[in-house]
Amino acid sequence: MIKVITYGTYDLLHYGHLRLLERAKALGDYLIVGVTADDFDKIRGKINVQQSLEERVAAVQATGIADKVIIEEYEGQKIDDIRKYGIDIFTVGSDWVGVFDYLNEYCKVVYLPRTDGVSSSEIRAKNASLRLGMVGYAPFLRKFYYESKFVNAVDVTGICVPEAGVLDYLGTEIFYTTEYEKLLETVDSVYIHAHPLEHYSLCKKALMAGKHVMCESPLAMTIDECNDLLALAQQRRLIIMEATRTAYITAYARMLLLLKGGKIGKVVSVDATCTSLSSSEQIGRSKQWGSLEAWGPTTMLPVFQILGTDYISKNIFSINNGMEHNDAFTKINFTYPSATATIKVGNGVKSEGELIVSGTKGYVYIPAPWWKTEYFEIRFENQANNKRYFYQVDGEGIRYELVALANAVRNNMPDYYISRNVSLAIVSIMQDFRRNQENA
Ligand code: CTP
Repeated sequence: MIKVITYGTYDLLHYGHLRLLERAKALGDYLIVGVTADDFDKIRGKINVQQSLEERVAAVQATGIADKVIIEEYEGQKIDDIRKYGIDIFTVGSDWVGVFDYLNEYCKVVYLPRTDGVSSSEIRAKNASLRLGMVGYAPFLRKFYYESKFVNAVDVTGICVPEAGVLDYLGTEIFYTTEYEKLLETVDSVYIHAHPLEHYSLCKKALMAGKHVMCESPLAMTIDECNDLLALAQQRRLIIMEATRTAYITAYARMLLLLKGGKIGKVVSVDATCTSLSSSEQIGRSKQWGSLEAWGPTTMLPVFQILGTDYISKNIFSINNGMEHNDAFTKINFTYPSATATIKVGNGVKSEGELIVSGTKGYVYIPAPWWKTEYFEIRFENQANNKRYFYQVDGEGIRYELVALANAVRNNMPDYYISRNVSLAIVSIMQDFRRNQENA
């Protein structure tokens, strides 16, 4: 019996896939199809895949051509599979010519001509090109625009900033305006990166105009305003989500799952620090941001996602930098019934930007810059048990949050990365802090 193996993502299964599978089967008597796992695709830089692994496997099975479907989970697995299943022929489409020649050592390698005129990428691009407008702080929007090029479900088509100079970087095919209403007329969704005090009005105008919103956190500066936005989005069946990049980064999301699974026992403390000496360089925001405005939502994210939002009390220490409403350094201690948390943020004050989660069996350590991390460690008393986890990040997480926005819009379901009570808890701290500043 001649055994054949082939691999692919098989997203939105199309005619080209079918032809490939048929010809692969015809090369022998028994066909194994390896479907790539989501994580493996991400590591390969394929972040736009629309269907889940289950859907893609089901589609390949439904063709009835494969005798067996397996999952491809790691680099180098092909050699293992060829040996394990006693494969005679490895085959893929001609878009891979040469790449798998090294497998000739283990079995015969056959490149089948690729079918012209069809690909998953093209179908995805046609399916869902969400027109996105950017508004706010020009230097950061440039970076955002560049990253958006990696996400084919989103097309950044317009920008609203005062400085026409941005077009030197973005090119003239992008629609430029200084009037937000005009931008809204030309897009399906907006990305907002402005001072937090402007968020509410920018989000509200977009929702009123029937546009989906991705806004930097906090969504608003008061609980009432935030509730208003959430209700409006729900009424109008629109997506509103926070653009806190950390939440969309695989390493961070995996760390949360391991904690929920009790890997370090019961969590008793979360300590998160983010500081910068030059805010504009480090996080793409102007000097007018106070440290809590610049970093507060990011540092509060792990606190509320790990310990929940029902803290008993909080205690704030803050140093002003001489400008009105502008804190140079702020430290907040949260007390929970049987846990505690600290956030430290600085804008013009420097500290070690790490995240430490302490538990009854061990602790999680994420070195700076933990908010865009690829790496974390779980450490125990016995160092031999320590484990390191690595998940590659391409860019700074912007492309992942854009994929989440496109998926949320396509499925008409709020994105689940940051829950509503976490968003509201963040707003509540921002609101109290601002009121304290005003009363000081
Ligand atoms: N394939 C093919 N003809 C096409 C598209 C794909 O023969 N028009 C083959 C590929 O060469 C590969 C297999 O089908 O052997 C699975 O390819 P996959 O990467 O899943 O599909 P693409 O359509 O190429 O996906 P993408 O556009 O995301 O790269």
